[in-house]
Amino acid sequence: MKPLVTRNIEELRPYKPGKPIEETEREIGVKNLVKMASNENPLGPSPKAVEAIQKAAEQMHIYPDGGCYMLKERLAKHLSKYDVEPHNLIIGNGSNEVIEFIIRTFVAADENIVIGDPSFIIYRLAGISHNREEIAVPLRDDLTCDLEAIYNAVNAKTKVIFLASPNNPTGIPIYDDEFVHFMTHVRDDVIICIDEAYAEFVDDPKVLDGLQYAPYRHRLVVLRTFSKIYGLAGLRIGYGVSSADLVSYMDRVRPPFNVNRMAQIAACAALDDPAHVKKTQAVNASGRKEVEDTLTQMGVKWYPSQANFLLIDLGKPSGPVFDTLLHKGFITRQVDNYGLPNCLRVTIGTEDQNRGFIEALRESLL
Ligand SMILES: Cc1ncc(COP(=O)(O)O)c(C=O)c1O
Repeated sequence: MKPLVTRNIEELRPYKPGKPIEETEREIGVKNLVKMASNENPLGPSPKAVEAIQKAAEQMHIYPDGGCYMLKERLAKHLSKYDVEPHNLIIGNGSNEVIEFIIRTFVAADENIVIGDPSFIIYRLAGISHNREEIAVPLRDDLTCDLEAIYNAVNAKTKVIFLASPNNPTGIPIYDDEFVHFMTHVRDDVIICIDEAYAEFVDDPKVLDGLQYAPYRHRLVVLRTFSKIYGLAGLRIGYGVSSADLVSYMDRVRPPFNVNRMAQIAACAALDDPAHVKKTQAVNASGRKEVEDTLTQMGVKWYPSQANFLLIDLGKPSGPVFDTLLHKGFITRQVDNYGLPNCLRVTIGTEDQNRGFIEALRESLL
């Protein structure tokens, strides 16, 4: 008998998200868990977004605008300093969906994608699910992205390079000086996707800002999301910025009405609340510094992050510490699936959450 599924699907191991709060509370019988596992905004969404959705709720029987007209106009205004116009934007059901579009649109059956390893696991999963070959290029020993090795790994069949800056699970960004060199040397028929899901948390001006590369948009897709700083992860909305041509190709594979009405409305409202973004940036910057300083005092190794999470190296398998933290009320993220069995990834929370986490970690390490 013929197998019911193709081998790539048989071998595909689905994405393992951070443990959901309710399910974990039921599992371990601990109440009021703090989730520091999925890099969500600890302050929640903008109140303006919540209010806009409440107002719009009565319209939920009407299909959304498939072309996201209002949101594209609003986003183009928001990104006008980068010369972004509505036709440069593709909106996805989370930026995850735009990753799917990129592979489906541009990578033919006999072509490959090049990714850093480890990097955001969805590039790999999307590649496997479409049965596309992947070339994984190890990060350097200090977990920085090795752009030179990535450049050297590109071959005649390479179609897309995925770069995450800041990277997940490390939080480490790519610096602009390295990227300029890389970008100008990569072949013109290779598309570079810079995934900047955490861009709004970056506070080092030397970090790559992919939107500044407007003249290269004919072979560049920059991804951003409303899931992180804007606190809308539960609504699933993100976007890509590219040339009008590349956007129009991706639009061909985009399912109709892929972004729901509430998400579009909330995203517009969130853009109208820069104060919430500023507050989130401030909470993250001071929280990240406090956690880093305390870890240093405790002699725990961490990696320099420009995102809203930290990768911590415990120097021993992280499973037991992860479990102890869980029973003390903190859900963190194991990163074994990223090849980092001694590490935990922890989202920066509010001041209270960070201090609670640090105390729990201290006790877990005794
Ligand atoms: C690097 C990176 N890209 C994309 C995403 C997915 O974002 P979205 O919620 O917009 O699909 C994440 C989420 O964790 C991420 O870490």
